[in-house]
Amino acid sequence: MQRLIDRLRRERTLPPADLRLLLEACHDDATTLSYLNAQAREVAQAHFGRGIFIRGLIEVSNCCRNNCYYCGIRKGNTHVERYRLSTEQVLGCCRQGYALGFRTFVMQGGEDPAQTDDWVERTVAAIRREYPDCAITLSLGEKSREAYERFFRAGANRYLLRHETHDATHYAQLHPAGMTISHRLQCQRQLKEIGYQTGTGIMVGSPGQTLDHILEDIFYIEELQPEMIGIGPFLPHHDTPFASCPPGTVEQTVALLSIFRLMHPAALIPSTTALATLAPDGRERGILAGANVVMPNLSPVEDRKKYELYNNKAALGAESAEGLSALRRQLQAIGYDISFARGDFKM
Ligand code: 5AD
Repeated sequence: MQRLIDRLRRERTLPPADLRLLLEACHDDATTLSYLNAQAREVAQAHFGRGIFIRGLIEVSNCCRNNCYYCGIRKGNTHVERYRLSTEQVLGCCRQGYALGFRTFVMQGGEDPAQTDDWVERTVAAIRREYPDCAITLSLGEKSREAYERFFRAGANRYLLRHETHDATHYAQLHPAGMTISHRLQCQRQLKEIGYQTGTGIMVGSPGQTLDHILEDIFYIEELQPEMIGIGPFLPHHDTPFASCPPGTVEQTVALLSIFRLMHPAALIPSTTALATLAPDGRERGILAGANVVMPNLSPVEDRKKYELYNNKAALGAESAEGLSALRRQLQAIGYDISFARGDFKM
């Protein structure tokens, strides 16, 4: 297995059959997994040093027109107390974040029809005007090409839109009729064409996911060459159809993080909140597997618990913007530190 991992590092790819062997080995062989993580960590350090980029996450709305079976803020969940931020509130989050040292703001939200394309465009423009030195990332789901173009012209630089799973049948197991993988992929192509630094990704261990699905995702991502890759474990949410499905594992998540790092040395790869929620040392394990980004929460404190995508979603302590000193201590304990750079994708 070590020879396979060395080859993956050298050639930045492997034939599907070898990748399958590697993923299977990581499942029950701790030595293989830790060797894989160590190689990926070296590649990340060669590219980024020991600085971890921070992104201030602003959850702009938990209203959503979609009804994805895994997601806690799905339209069908009547137990959610819904909120949406105003432009002024978003700017307030940015002001707080800027003072703390954040130079990337991420506007993430459900597909909220009341936050119209005009609203997004105006809000992005307002952030751009006040913070010409900051990167603006959007994570607002599927929009029209025209909308993506308007947001880009208003000053957005990056867009996160995970494809979740490349397999059409599996996609349909996770999403209701009307949502299709082909539309999701079309959106991703448009984002790239427009010039966004584009992020994709998957949930690890989502219901119905097989090793074949994961292999297909790996090769799709190899073809797309995204600038950002978001990989987190699936975690159940109690008010969804997947309430009693088992979560993804830390091991499978960090194995995949490392594979993506070896295949995409320059990619921006977060150690996700979902991984930090799954295990107390999840964030650290993600970084030690080759992740180089964390996204602390900058949302108004009173709304944070309402943005519950899965059970017990972490939003305090080192997951929060106010907890930056706790985050710094955690990173320093494993030999890393916060980087306050804007952290754009660079080959
Ligand atoms: N478990 C883990 N991740 C989830 N997401 C949504 N619901 C869940 C869940 N139950 C992820 C999706 C989405 C991102 C914003 O959050 O992958 O793209």
